[in-house]
Amino acid sequence: MDYQAILEEIFEEVQPLFGQGQVADYIEPLKQVDPNKFGIAIETLDGQCYQLGDSQERFSIQSVSKVFNLALATNLVGDALWQRVGMEPSGNPFNSLVQLEYENGIPRNPFINAGALLVVDVLLDHLADANADMLGFVRQLRCSDVYYDEVVAESEKTTGYNNTALVNYMKGRGNIRHEVGQVLDAYCHQCSITMTCTGLARSFAFLANGGVVPGSGQRILTTSQTKRMNAIMLTCGFYDESGEFAYKVGMPGKSGVGGGVAAVIPGKLSIAVWSPELNEQGNSVLGIKALELFTTKTGLSIF
Ligand code: DON
Repeated sequence: MDYQAILEEIFEEVQPLFGQGQVADYIEPLKQVDPNKFGIAIETLDGQCYQLGDSQERFSIQSVSKVFNLALATNLVGDALWQRVGMEPSGNPFNSLVQLEYENGIPRNPFINAGALLVVDVLLDHLADANADMLGFVRQLRCSDVYYDEVVAESEKTTGYNNTALVNYMKGRGNIRHEVGQVLDAYCHQCSITMTCTGLARSFAFLANGGVVPGSGQRILTTSQTKRMNAIMLTCGFYDESGEFAYKVGMPGKSGVGGGVAAVIPGKLSIAVWSPELNEQGNSVLGIKALELFTTKTGLSIF
């Protein structure tokens, strides 16, 4: 398969979609990102990398990082995690408060904000230095070019009233063990991670490879845990657009409001796209289209 030629075709075909979405504006530093950026990278399990456009520029991965924290929590506590967070699609916006009240402070899944905040609380039980250890975990995935953007983290900490409400509500229901400020600090750092498309594709490769990091051979998750991570990505990775993403793209993946999307074809490859303009669900317009074109042109999908 000539992946490079396919990336070039995709790049041409997504051009008309620029201007259809909006850059995230509720996090001050993200407002300033150039809306015309577009990068894409593929990492195959035999170690080939294909890339195009702004694939070497770091961007705020935001909620894509929820995959790393879930993998780390799965690695640390296994199935015990599911006593405190569900595994069903939410069908609601990523920052929704209402569902949490109906469901007694147990978030629907680990990829909505409430669920990711809960996962951070679990990590705080086990990590000596949460911020350093979360970043260290991503670096183990053969990606060294990964950092926190302190400006983004600080901005989210000072304006994240909705996230503060989610943690407070869960704490009131006895589902958060640590101090609210401590959970928010770790969560905002996690969301502020900056990576390139090439780094993001590489760091997702273990999810295409049964839980083992290609190249280093380090096992992060068991085969069964990896299957389950991919199932959660497929059903919950795009919030209330997860069904449409599965229908149009057919890959397990995860998006973030920085405009990043990362996805895998188990047994074959991982792929990351960055384009900052978002649709109403908070997912990258060109990112989703690029992946739809990718699975259509290659005939690859999990179905
Ligand atoms: O908590 C927030 O609002 C952001 N730090 C992350 C949101 C996000 O990326 C959701 N994605 N689509």
